[in-house]
Amino acid sequence: MRIFTNPAKLQNYIKNIKLKDKTVGFVPTMGALHQGHISLIRRARKENDIVAVSIFVNPSQFGPNEDLKKYPRPFEKDVKSCKSEGADVIFAPPPKDMYPENYLTYITVEKLSALMCGKFRHGHFRGVATIVAKLFNIVQPDRAYFGLKDFQQSVIIKKMVTDLNFPVKIIVCPLVREKDGLALSSRNVYLSCEERKRALSLSRSLQNAKNLIEYKNVKSAKKIISEMKKMILPNTDKIDYIEIRDAETLEEIKYIKKKVVIAVAVFVGKTRLIDNIVV
Ligand code: PAJ
Repeated sequence: MRIFTNPAKLQNYIKNIKLKDKTVGFVPTMGALHQGHISLIRRARKENDIVAVSIFVNPSQFGPNEDLKKYPRPFEKDVKSCKSEGADVIFAPPPKDMYPENYLTYITVEKLSALMCGKFRHGHFRGVATIVAKLFNIVQPDRAYFGLKDFQQSVIIKKMVTDLNFPVKIIVCPLVREKDGLALSSRNVYLSCEERKRALSLSRSLQNAKNLIEYKNVKSAKKIISEMKKMILPNTDKIDYIEIRDAETLEEIKYIKKKVVIAVAVFVGKTRLIDNIVV
């Protein structure tokens, strides 16, 4: 396994790989790898000749009052995980190489970036789209792997790839949970024991919503959201949103007729958690 920190050097290395007609699978991450990330690396390993993983805590997707500084960076441990999963390349650039002082170019996927998490994290998806576009140009993957954990992110990346004609296939993989239902996240390490217990109300409320729709034939979004609120409110410190949207277009819906995503974003203590379920 090779570790690259310099964008141009990796770009050059990949160019040579492509000359040999090998396929490149790419897993972009911010590190602090857990089984959610690992599931993406495994899928990429199965489907490609070369697997590249990026580990980069991207400053442009963090707001001024967010956790950029304290975001976990267990680099050596991440390197070991990538190695044992059979990754071929790690790309871990220093921020100054991705955003030099005179950096000016950003990508905004209109509309989709302003909804849901975008309402509360201004500029977040502009940062995500920009770094993913840059990483795609450096890694030149045939396939790139994203998790359903960040549902809105996956919709935005697919839209960007279509709109800007990136020659890459986006593969969206299932959300990985702990046994008790908690969605795996690098931010779960911030939770105290007591907060972690309260955080379970997210996955429980989503599972309950799915049951209401599938077994009790409840179709009103308002009714489902109000049931979810009852379960979540006593366990959280602030609800950013609980929403039900069309799973393809992210349009808000009133009555459930086709595939929808039920998505929540809340604070438990000072930690912002997101979770969702597709029904
Ligand atoms: P990060 O939060 O590290 O996540 C990297 C990838 O892992 C994303 O595609 C995310 O959806 C996926 N992932 C995280 N938790 C998961 C889980 N429990 N189950 C399945 N997949 C999971 O998302 C980012 O980084 C960044 O925004 C990035 C795309 C790297 C751009 O900076």
